[in-house]
Amino acid sequence: MGGWTLDDISWDRFERDRLDPELVRIVKAASLVEHNGGAYAHHLCRIFADDPGFQATARRWGEEEVQHGRALARWAALADPSFDFDAAFARFQDGFKVDFDAADSRRGSRAGEMVARCVVEIGTSSYYTALREAAAEPVLQEICRHIAADELQHYRLFYKNLGRCLAQERLGRWARLRVALGRVAESEDDELAYAYYAANEPERPYRRRDYRRAYAKRAYAVYRPHHVQRMVAMLLKAAGLTPNGRLARLVGGIAWRALRYRATRLARSPA
Ligand SMILES: [Fe+2]
Ligand SMILES: [Fe+2]
Repeated sequence: MGGWTLDDISWDRFERDRLDPELVRIVKAASLVEHNGGAYAHHLCRIFADDPGFQATARRWGEEEVQHGRALARWAALADPSFDFDAAFARFQDGFKVDFDAADSRRGSRAGEMVARCVVEIGTSSYYTALREAAAEPVLQEICRHIAADELQHYRLFYKNLGRCLAQERLGRWARLRVALGRVAESEDDELAYAYYAANEPERPYRRRDYRRAYAKRAYAVYRPHHVQRMVAMLLKAAGLTPNGRLARLVGGIAWRALRYRATRLARSPA
């Protein structure tokens, strides 16, 4: 997995006059969430306590997520020298709490956990692809290209492990779809909103609704129809449904219209 380090990034190609301040804000938020990957790896090791092979994979995966956080944080500090990553990360960890020590998955089964992990990687691989296409700054483009490739590999590794889990547990297509849609709905929960707040607005009190909107307004703006269509196809595949048939096109069209509707409404809001 991986195969790149921060030394591979051409930091000297950074172009200040090609910065988009709105993207800088969401990159700062992403750096915090990615850097928390080690905690999720720990949680996966708890869930797969009797599986040292998968634990080793989960730890490597966690290290790659942490590296994503470090790359994005370094870029954010170039873009905005006042950005204090350590302070922002401490604020994020302080305010956003999940029981990473729990030995049972919130999804009810190991297979369910893998479906949820697939959904997250589908989301991130599409998001960094969309961010790369939306960004004009060449170093950010390069970082996003590396990260999006990693996220796709992560999806593949969780999808493969999902197959292994399904050989031992029964989890039907609709149950998988339910877990997948539940995880999609969670993307508007506290994690990204709180990361956006901790990274950008340390002086103000946290108001969930406001920061959820502030984050979503900027993040949704980077997507184009092909990103959403691809996300839907991958999501259907993770649920065990046909990824490229009529259903995928129909759902993809509905998802794109829903996202565009929400993005347009958010764009008019003062958040
Ligand atoms: Fe990542
Ligand atoms: Fe990932």
